[in-house]
Amino acid sequence: MFSLQVPVRTGIPISSAISSSKGAEEAGHACELISLYDRNIGFCRACYACFRTGECVLHDDMAKILKKMQEADVLVIATPVYFLTMNGMLKTAIDRFLPKWQDLGGHDVWLIITGHDSRKGLQLAGDELTAIFRNLGNEIKGIIWGDNVWQKGEVRDTEAMEEACRAGRSIY
Ligand SMILES: Cc1cc2nc3c(=O)[nH]c(=O)nc-3n(C[C@H](O)[C@H](O)[C@H](O)COP(=O)(O)O)c2cc1C
Repeated sequence: MFSLQVPVRTGIPISSAISSSKGAEEAGHACELISLYDRNIGFCRACYACFRTGECVLHDDMAKILKKMQEADVLVIATPVYFLTMNGMLKTAIDRFLPKWQDLGGHDVWLIITGHDSRKGLQLAGDELTAIFRNLGNEIKGIIWGDNVWQKGEVRDTEAMEEACRAGRSIY
């Protein structure tokens, strides 16, 4: 099983992610694309009720997403860079990992990071996501950088798309 988490509905990062998942499908793996943009995900209230119950007090789409993440072998996390860091939708979802944070390790993780800036400008987002997913007990298999892209679809003509496909095919 192979799961994708994408914070925007359409556009550059999702294009890269789909490319990656297509490669994985060609290699015979079931892929699921989750667009956070289309989900109902509230902010963590920091009430810590989940420390007692293992469940969040908010009854939205996050519990289902966490279950899918736990069941997946491979996670692909895609984000556009907004103000030097990950997109807010992705960070909101990550904060909601709290009820299950001890059960979200053991995955191979690929990161897809896009932005109009050069690779250097996207580095912070890569470093942060690497630290977060490593800290949960996962292995970062690679980062696909969609640098120097601004408009939707622009990434289609870049090396990042080929890299995403290669990454998809290399899984297992
Ligand atoms: C609010 C906002 C902030 C942004 N900040 C950055 C930034 O700090 N660095 C960067 O390289 N790109 C930045 N961008 C550009 C996006 O990262 C880039 O256009 C994105 O990869 C496009 O993906 P999308 O069309 O799927 O949303 C920003 C875009 C928006 C909307």
